[in-house]
Amino acid sequence: MKILKVCSACLLLLALVFCSKGPEPKDKVLEAKVERLLSQMTLEEKIGQMNQISSFGNIEDMSVLIKRGEVGSILNEVDPVKVNALQRVAMEESRLGIPLLIARDVIHGFKTIFPIPLGQAASFNPEIAEAGARISAIEASSVGIRWTFAPMIDIARDPRWGRIAEGCGEDTYLTSVMGAAMVKGYQGDSLNHPTSIAACPKHFVGYGAGEGGRDYASTFIPERLLRNVYLPPFEAAARAGAATYMTSFNDNDGVPSTGNAFILKNILRDEWGFDGLVVTDWASAVEMIPHGFAANEKEVALKSVNAGVDMEMVSYTFVKYLPGLTKEGKVKQHTIDNAVRNILRLKLRLGLFDNPFVDENQGSVLYAESHLETAKKAAVESAVLLKNENEILPLKENIKTVAVVGPMADAPHDQLGTWVFDGEKAHTQTPLKAIREMYGDKVQVIYEPGLKYSRDRNTEGIARAATTAARADVILTFVGEEAILSGEAHCLADLKLVGAQSELIAALRNTGKPLVTIVMAGRPLTIRKEVELSDAVLYNFHPGTMGGPAIADLLFGKEVPSGKLPVTFPKMVGQIPIYYAHNNTGRPPLGNETLLYDIPVEAGQTSLGNRSFYLDAGVDPLYPFGYGLSYTTFAYNNIRLSSNEYTEQDTIKIAFDLENTGKYTATEVVQLYIQDKVASVTRPVKELKGFERITLKAGEKQTIAMEVPVSELAFWNIDMVKVVEPGDFGLWIAGDSQSGNEVLFKVVG
Ligand code: BGC
Repeated sequence: MKILKVCSACLLLLALVFCSKGPEPKDKVLEAKVERLLSQMTLEEKIGQMNQISSFGNIEDMSVLIKRGEVGSILNEVDPVKVNALQRVAMEESRLGIPLLIARDVIHGFKTIFPIPLGQAASFNPEIAEAGARISAIEASSVGIRWTFAPMIDIARDPRWGRIAEGCGEDTYLTSVMGAAMVKGYQGDSLNHPTSIAACPKHFVGYGAGEGGRDYASTFIPERLLRNVYLPPFEAAARAGAATYMTSFNDNDGVPSTGNAFILKNILRDEWGFDGLVVTDWASAVEMIPHGFAANEKEVALKSVNAGVDMEMVSYTFVKYLPGLTKEGKVKQHTIDNAVRNILRLKLRLGLFDNPFVDENQGSVLYAESHLETAKKAAVESAVLLKNENEILPLKENIKTVAVVGPMADAPHDQLGTWVFDGEKAHTQTPLKAIREMYGDKVQVIYEPGLKYSRDRNTEGIARAATTAARADVILTFVGEEAILSGEAHCLADLKLVGAQSELIAALRNTGKPLVTIVMAGRPLTIRKEVELSDAVLYNFHPGTMGGPAIADLLFGKEVPSGKLPVTFPKMVGQIPIYYAHNNTGRPPLGNETLLYDIPVEAGQTSLGNRSFYLDAGVDPLYPFGYGLSYTTFAYNNIRLSSNEYTEQDTIKIAFDLENTGKYTATEVVQLYIQDKVASVTRPVKELKGFERITLKAGEKQTIAMEVPVSELAFWNIDMVKVVEPGDFGLWIAGDSQSGNEVLFKVVG
C-alpha cells in the first residue's frame, strides 16, 4: 500500500492562512517618499486623498475635482480610455501629481465569471480560488482597475441573507483558507506588478450575522464569539498581505463598524499590525445618522476618522467637514496624516506613481481561452451531488434521448449569479447549449422549459413540458433562483423554490421517467420535497460563464462530482440559524426526534425528555456542512494518531486508510474535525481544522497522513486570552461534519 503524505500540503494550507508573509515589511525608501509627499501637502489636499467618488462617467466634471486635489480614488470606471484620461489629469494637472486608485467590485470574475464565492467554497480547493482571483485581477487590471472590493469573508449562518452568495459560507476555518487564497490571487506575488490589484477583505466585521437574515441589520456578537468565529478569516487575510479593508454596515452591540475604534484600531492596527488602507462601505459613514450614532454629517466625519477610517466611499463628509474639524482641534493633524500615509503607501506599493496608465488595447486577455478553462474547472469542483438513487448519474450509454426542462437550463444571465457588473451573458455557456454541442452526437436533446424564469407562476407550459419530457429516457430539470434573488439587499423570508418550479418537478415526476434535478442558486434552498421527488440532485450554486460545459461533463460522467457543502442546508426556514459548529446545550437531543404527530391527543403535561429539538423538524438539517456525494464511494478506516497525549508545542500526526470502493476515479474532500471536550468556556461540538482533496482510482487504497499543530486548538478563553487549554479532545476524519468515528486524545499542560 502506498503512503501518501499530505502533511506537507496541509502545512502549506496552514502556512497560507496562519504564517504567510503578513503586512508588507516597511520599505524605508517607500516610507521616505510618503513623508516627502506628505510634507508638501496642504490640509485640503490631504483630505482630498481621503475621498472616494463613484465615476460620473463624464471626464470634465471629474477632472475639476481631481485638479483641485479633492479625489483620492474613483470607483466604477472601467473604460481604459477614460481611466487613462483621469490618471493624466491627476498626474499632470493636479499640484502634486498623485495618481488615482481606480476601484471596482470584481467579486467572482471581471469578464470571465467564476462560480459565486459560495460555490467556489464548495470546492474546498484554495488553489482554484486563487487561480480565479488571479485571472480576475489580470482581466480587471487590463482596463486600469487596481483595487477590488473582495474577497467577502463574512461568516454567514443564515441563508435568508442574500449576501451569503458572496462569501465562503458558515465556517471560520474554510473561510480563512479560501479568503487568504483569494487575497493572494488578486494581489499576485507583488502589488507592484501591473496585473496585481489590491484586495479588500470585507465587511469588517460581523455583517453576516444580521438579525433575522436581513441585510444591514444589527448584530449582537460578543467579543469572544467575534474573536473565535468572525475575526479569524480577516486575520488570515491580513497575514496573507491584504492591502485594504472595508468597514461593514452593521452596528454590533450598538456600535456601527464605521465608527468602531475597537475593531479598526485596537484589533486591525495594534493587534494585527495592518498598515494598509481602511475604506468605508458605500455611504456607511453617513448611515451612522439613521443608525442614531451620529447627529449630523459633521459628527459622521468626526466619528469615522477618529475611529480609524482612512477613506470615505461616496458620502463626502470628509471633504466637507474634516478641514474645519481639524482646525477646531477635534480631529488631530496626526490622525489625518496617518490616514493619508496609508493611502499614499498603497499607491506607491501598487507602482502607480511610476505608471498609472494602461494599454488601451489589451482586450485579448478578456475571456482568454485559459481563463474559460479555469472557470470551467472551478464550476466542476463547485458542484455538489446531493442525491443519486440507483446510480442514475452519470447518464449511461443506453440513454438515447434526454429531455432538458426548467427555467435555468438556458438562462445565460442568471447562471452568472449576483455581483456581476462586467461579465456579459453573450459569453455564457448554458447547460442546454453545452449538452447540445458536447453530447448532441450521443443523445437526442429535446428542450421544453416549462417555465420562462424561476419566478414564473404561469403554469400553462408545465403540462406541455411533462408531455414532451415523457418521450425521453431521462429528464434533466434545471431549477433554482435568478441571479437577482440573492446578493445585496436580496434577502428572503422563505427559501422554497420560487414560482411554479415545484409544480414543474411534481409534473415531471408523474411521467414516471428518471428525474435528475439540477439546482443553480445563490444560497441553500429548502428543497426537501423536490429532493424526494427526484432520483438525483446536483447543486451548483450559480456556476458562472462556464457552468454549462461543467454541468454537462458531470452529468455525462466525463467529470465526477467532488464538491462539499460549505454551509448547512436546513429542512425548513424555522431551523435557521442552523450550523454544525454550535455549542452543546445542557440537554442535547438524543436523535432526530420529530414527535409532533406521536403525542397523544390531550396528553398530560409532558417534557418529552426535556431535550433541545423542534417537535416538527427534529434537529438534523436536510444536509450537513461538508456533505457531498460522488459517483464512487469512499471508505475511511484505521484512523490512528501518533500519540494519545500532546503538549502545546507538539503536532498531532494522523494517519488513516482511504479507499475508493466504487467504480470511478474520483476526488474526496477529506475533512478533519476536533472537539475540545471541557474548557473554561463551552466549545463547539465540532470544528473543522483541516481538509484535503485526495484523488484515488477505482479500487485504490492509500494511507493518508494529515497534521494539526496543537497550537491550532487555541481559542479565546474565559479570560479573553487566546490559549490551548489542556484536557480531553475528540477528533474525526470524515467525508462530512456528521459522520466518522471519534478518536480521543489529551493535551497536557
Ligand atoms: C457593498 C459593498 C461594495 C460597495 C461598492 C456596497 O453597497 O456593500 O460590498 O463593495 O457597495 O460597490
